Amino acid sequence: MRAIHILNGPNLNLLGTREPKIYGHTTLADIEADIRATAEGRAAITFAQTNSEGALVELIHAAHAAGADVIINAAAYTHTSVAVHDALKMLTGQVIELHLSNPHAREAFRHQSYVAPTASSVIAGFGAKGYRMAVEALLA
Ligand code: DQA
Repeated sequence: MRAIHILNGPNLNLLGTREPKIYGHTTLADIEADIRATAEGRAAITFAQTNSEGALVELIHAAHAAGADVIINAAAYTHTSVAVHDALKMLTGQVIELHLSNPHAREAFRHQSYVAPTASSVIAGFGAKGYRMAVEALLA
């Protein structure tokens, strides 16, 4: 079965209570449950979150070892991390960059993405449902 790794970066563990006007009221656990239901019998899902840059790099290495497609919301590391960029470049599967908000409609420092040059596709601004859209796009 196809492997899809959904990787989440810093502060996303606090979804639901973190700046709900921007990120909504849905928790990361709600999103994971929705994704597992969506992918049931269609893909093997790995769903992970970390607040640390090195751990995020290691999650990308694990996706590489599994030959998985990756949906990544690198959160703030999107805008800062050459290490995340370099790790994503190694992947042989598809990479989808994901954001709940639309970073291009926000502060200038969010307009730069180190993930985008490694990604085949970007989904941003659809809130929590962007995760399901990304999975459906990979499985379509
Ligand atoms: C985010 C957007 C980033 O700019 C921000 O640092 C995040 C969340 C999003 O999902 O909208 O932490 O990736």
